[in-house]
Amino acid sequence: MKIAVPKERRPYERRVAMAPDTVKKYKSLGYDVAVESGAGAEASFPDELYVAAGASIVADTSALLRDADIVLKVQRPMTESEGRNEVGLLKPDTVLVAMLNPYGAQSDLELYAKGNITAMSMELVPRITRAQAMDVLSSQSNLAGYKAVLDAADQFGSAFPMMMTAAGTVPPARVMVMGAGVAGLQSIATARRLGAVVCATDVRPAAREQVESLGASFVMVETEETEQAETSGGYAKEMSEDYKRRQAELIAETIKKQDVVICTALIPGRAAPNLISEDMLKTMKPGSVIVDLAVEQGGNCALSEAGKVVEAYGVKIVGHRNVPSRIPVNASSLYARNLFNFVALISEKEGGKLAINWDDEIIQAVTLTRQGSIVHPKFAKAS
Ligand code: NAI
Repeated sequence: MKIAVPKERRPYERRVAMAPDTVKKYKSLGYDVAVESGAGAEASFPDELYVAAGASIVADTSALLRDADIVLKVQRPMTESEGRNEVGLLKPDTVLVAMLNPYGAQSDLELYAKGNITAMSMELVPRITRAQAMDVLSSQSNLAGYKAVLDAADQFGSAFPMMMTAAGTVPPARVMVMGAGVAGLQSIATARRLGAVVCATDVRPAAREQVESLGASFVMVETEETEQAETSGGYAKEMSEDYKRRQAELIAETIKKQDVVICTALIPGRAAPNLISEDMLKTMKPGSVIVDLAVEQGGNCALSEAGKVVEAYGVKIVGHRNVPSRIPVNASSLYARNLFNFVALISEKEGGKLAINWDDEIIQAVTLTRQGSIVHPKFAKAS
């Protein structure tokens, strides 16, 4: 069977779904691999590296997809209404594996079903031990958390570490991290490595130990409600109005003393919680920096704007889109390995053949469409 890797064409996307070092792994499972010319260019993987690893290079997207049994992508394929019908190029029975953004782009599911495509969405990989090596949200959030701190340092007019010089002492930067999940914990670790004094907040009490083990202090409003703030999957729930009010008081008090705030708080399938109000911005020190990693889900900061760096009340608010793509080499390599681990799960050990166990909980969690229907319980009503 043939695996195809098209070039990503959505704006702000620099990643690619297969790195040259994973080509060999697919070959050892018995697959043929074809990569669209230039697919890895923005991740510093030129065509020659893919060829050296045993892939063929195809210049034309439609020829590439027409021939493919499995299509690996980073983002969902483009649709006719977006001016480039990549979904229409997929042949019936193609297995499409990508971050298909089913909550944000639910109408695409109809197109996959109509095209008889087996669509598998990697954001839906369950957070169980067996699936950790396939967890694209973790691999990408981890890098985003790191990059967010570097983006903040770039905008910040002072240094992060304390410096004692003959001309005087430079105080360490004070960094607050909102949301201590995968991205937040990496932000804490990165800011600490740069020498900042770091504090963090979350609604899940379990985060305390992780935050403190990284050398940061933990601030949160702990109530009876927070005992149930975590779903069985480890994610946060939306909190009550009363909790939000008490949390806002705590944040207002803490944020005044910060130089940098990294926002990573998310609630799956919902808008990001609004944690920094315009009034809070007015109390922050001039020259402070906020990096809002949640900006594409509505933002944790009231004034952040997707794709922009804006300034309000002397505070710079960074709202870069697609932050993992800003570190495309590692983001592609880790994503490619996540995908390989998933494809290995749905393949025979050799001979380049699919062997999908439809009863496997990982497969059930990620499969959106199959045999002409939307099969995922969360989205089936849409059909
Ligand atoms: P996420 O990206 O959905 O959210 C980021 C963080 O924001 C979370 O820690 C969440 O609790 C926090 N948050 C949400 N609302 C908030 C609010 N109003 N105020 C402050 N913070 C708020 O979550 P992420 O990073 O994808 O993962 C979260 C959980 O998943 C953790 O429990 C983590 O340990 C677990 N996990 C488990 C894995 C596994 O077992 N395979 C792999 C990766 C993560």
